[in-house]
Amino acid sequence: MKTFNYFFKALLGVFILSVIGCKQKPLCELPTEVTYTQIIAPLIEAKCFMCHSQEVYKRKASRTKIYNYATLKEMGLNGALLGAITHQKGFVAMPFRKNEKIDTCSIALIAKWVETGMKK
Ligand code: HEC
Repeated sequence: MKTFNYFFKALLGVFILSVIGCKQKPLCELPTEVTYTQIIAPLIEAKCFMCHSQEVYKRKASRTKIYNYATLKEMGLNGALLGAITHQKGFVAMPFRKNEKIDTCSIALIAKWVETGMKK
C-alpha cells in the first residue's frame, strides 16, 4: 500500500512539473519574418501536399488548388486558408476528414504569414 502511495505521489509530481514547465515556455517561437519560400512552402508541402500538390491535381482536377505561391496566396486573401485550418464555420475543415487541426505553431506561422501580407 505504501509503495502504491509513493507511486501516485511521484506521478502527481511529474504531472505538476510538466504543467508548470509548459506554462513557462512560450507557446511557439515565431520568426520575425515569415516568407513563403523559407517557411510556408515546406510546411504546406509536409502537411497538405498528400492532397494539394500539383501531382494530385493531375489526377483529380476538381479540387481546390493550393500547391504554389499564387494559388495559396489567393486562398489566404479570400479567407479560406485560415478558415479551413482553424475549422471555422463555412469552410471545409483541414486536414480533410480529420477531427484534429494541424499543430498550433504551424497555424500561428500560417496566420502570421497571411497577416503580414503573404511575402514570397
Ligand atoms: C486528405 C486530403 C487533404 C489534406 C491532407 C488537406 N486537404 Fe485541403 N482539401 C481537401 C479536399 C478534398 C478539399 C475540398 C475540395 C473541394 O471540395 O473542391 C480541400 C479544400 C481545402 C481548402 C478550401 C476550403 C474551403 O472551404 O474553401 C483549403 C483552404 C484547404 N483545403 C487547405 C488545406 C491545407 C492548408 C492543408 C494542410 C494543412 C490541407 N488542406 C490538407 C483535401 C485535403
